[in-house]
Amino acid sequence: MLLKALEISKLDESCISNPKPEIANWTEVCRRLTSNLKSRISDLRCRIRPISKFLVVISLFSTQVFAQAPDAQFQMRCSECHKAGNAINAPLPDTLRQMTWQSILAALETGKMKGVGDTLTAKERESIARYIGSDTSAAIMPSAKCSASPSTVASNDWNGWSDAGNTRFQPARLAGLTSQTTPKLKLKWAFGFPGVTTASGTPTIVGGKIFIGAADGAVYSLDANTGCVYWTYAAAAGVRVSPVIGNGYAYFGDLRGNVYAVNADTGALIWRTRADDHPLAVITGSPKLESGRLYVPVSGRDESIAATNAAYECCTFRGSIVALDARTGKRVWQAYTVDETPKPRPARIKPARKHGDPRVLRYGRVQQSTCKAKPSTRERA
Ligand code: HEC
Repeated sequence: MLLKALEISKLDESCISNPKPEIANWTEVCRRLTSNLKSRISDLRCRIRPISKFLVVISLFSTQVFAQAPDAQFQMRCSECHKAGNAINAPLPDTLRQMTWQSILAALETGKMKGVGDTLTAKERESIARYIGSDTSAAIMPSAKCSASPSTVASNDWNGWSDAGNTRFQPARLAGLTSQTTPKLKLKWAFGFPGVTTASGTPTIVGGKIFIGAADGAVYSLDANTGCVYWTYAAAAGVRVSPVIGNGYAYFGDLRGNVYAVNADTGALIWRTRADDHPLAVITGSPKLESGRLYVPVSGRDESIAATNAAYECCTFRGSIVALDARTGKRVWQAYTVDETPKPRPARIKPARKHGDPRVLRYGRVQQSTCKAKPSTRERA
């Protein structure tokens, strides 16, 4: 009677009619998921009494395949590690709640949780991140804001990632440092990036101000002397590059392939453009400004997703350098590192042979699919 309500035979249909845009061969994935589920259910018939337990377990499994609610998703995909007493140093939900949702998304897309994130759709990643993370809006305390502009400071020959020769060398005259004074450096101030655990771009220093981005997409202009905040700009995704400053603008790219120019004094957006149309394009290389053009290296997450998600249809990303007009953000040219336009090819490599029961990988323990022994003699691993 209870099973009838669930209508197991309709599981395939229900799965197939709710496709996930990121998974190309969804029908095939549904078949695998539902046949797995059905064998689990028939196994449970043998194992679990009373019937009430049976219902609870079935409803859990059906959620496992079709659930959309972010709290249930978090329970299923994250809680097994992020729970009290875990021995692997996974932060507890209370700690995650203090992180901004953008930095949680960044962890799932390109950070420490990428392996887990690659098995979710873009929608699922975002809804879980929004569910467990906080909003950035209140992140900067008013007392941290600068009350005056920096006193004028000598400007550097170059800024951003590097000089034209890629030496990354600032002469002592401009750096204010020599090999003798370097060992005597003392901490003057420290700045804690609100809501994130990671910031990876080299800071850019121009005219007494520091420009730096963080994993949640916040870009900061700080006072080099005191660490107070002139402005913050919220990019759509994590900013890992060293911003480059010129023409009164600060230029940077984010982990969704967007490039930005903001007013270097106020942080107001001047233009924003996508460097590459591929949905998995990311910008991790710092842009270079030269003679009115901004040169942006674009990389992608195609192969890395394919490595952890067998259903992902690889490889359509080509890699490129894009030249943008520095004033307007308009694309002047794009040169691909893979010349050929991608086209579908027959799969030549069969999936590698697997050892052991595939359900061990998915559920962490083996379940028998037929009832060969009495329930009491079964082991629950
Ligand atoms: C297999 C275990 C495991 C699973 C599953 C897992 N995590 Fe984690 N997670 C960890 C561990 C371990 C760390 C700490 C890693 C470190 O600091 O090096 C971590 C760290 C994080 C961080 C902090 C990242 C940072 O930059 O410091 C976030 C955010 C996070 N996890 C979110 C999630 C979410 C959301 C899910 C579910 C979609 C999830 N995790 C699933 C084990 C896991």
